[in-house]
Amino acid sequence: MTETKIIDGKAFAEKLRGEIARKVAKLKTEKGITPGLAVIRVGDDPASEVYVRNKVKQTKEVGMNSFELRLPKEITEEELRAKVRELNDDKTVHGILVQLPLPEHIDGFIVIDTIDPHKDVDGFNIINVAGLAVGEDPYFIPCTPMGCLMLLKNYFQNPNNYPKDKVPGQKPLAGLHAIILGRSNIVGKPMIQLLLKEDCTVTIAHSKTANVSLLVKQADIVIAAVGRPEIVKGEWLKKGAVVIDVGINRIASPDGKTKLVGDVDFQSCLGIAAAITPVPGGVGPMTIACLLENTLRAAKCTVVC
Ligand code: GUN
Repeated sequence: MTETKIIDGKAFAEKLRGEIARKVAKLKTEKGITPGLAVIRVGDDPASEVYVRNKVKQTKEVGMNSFELRLPKEITEEELRAKVRELNDDKTVHGILVQLPLPEHIDGFIVIDTIDPHKDVDGFNIINVAGLAVGEDPYFIPCTPMGCLMLLKNYFQNPNNYPKDKVPGQKPLAGLHAIILGRSNIVGKPMIQLLLKEDCTVTIAHSKTANVSLLVKQADIVIAAVGRPEIVKGEWLKKGAVVIDVGINRIASPDGKTKLVGDVDFQSCLGIAAAITPVPGGVGPMTIACLLENTLRAAKCTVVC
């Protein structure tokens, strides 16, 4: 029976935030620049409230300036774009994030494309999406896929963790077969590009894919980002697969309360997967750490890019 390693995203993210905090301090001392991140929240979606609160808290903790704009859900698309343009022109703001989802009357693509691509630390602006697709710098990589990739690279950098049948390659993930479950703009699609760049063979599956479990069986890496609780079962996996669970789903628990689970049925993977990220404490903490990394990069780019 395989012993399954639990990939500790919380510890990895903490270390990353520590490194970011040191670099922020250096940038302040040497260049007199304090990175600033502006987060716009429209309306009162409760999940967004929690996400934004965490982003603001961690931004301040690494020594960056945090600007939070809470806007009413009745705001028009044009008024929202005007706010974004103000932030584009503000020299103290290096990164801009518009929390999604937006109210239905607002076209999210139009708003995101109003953000200056050099401040688009989410990596959602069409210029950055295209930059990632063709490998052109500078661009920002969306934060959740960036966090997934960091965890994977860290795992496979250890030669003991290579699958026996891996094709030898220069890059730690080269030749591995990765399957991505979910084709969202935030995770699935950018993940394709990132894994291709690492010389993986990439399969993308989605809600209309037939025989998903048979495809998963062939994969060395499984990235689950479908937003459906515990849908991926251990018996679907190839023995020794590495599982990255992006899902965050709240479900009822037997004690009458609720609990957070991923898209992967964690318990059933133990003893089959070589490694797996838990929920919570896996990919989740990496997302904000990567947002801060992108904001630091945006601030540094004002002097060196
Ligand atoms: N909503 C859910 N995830 C994200 C994210 O990564 N960025 C933004 N802006 N909104 C989100």
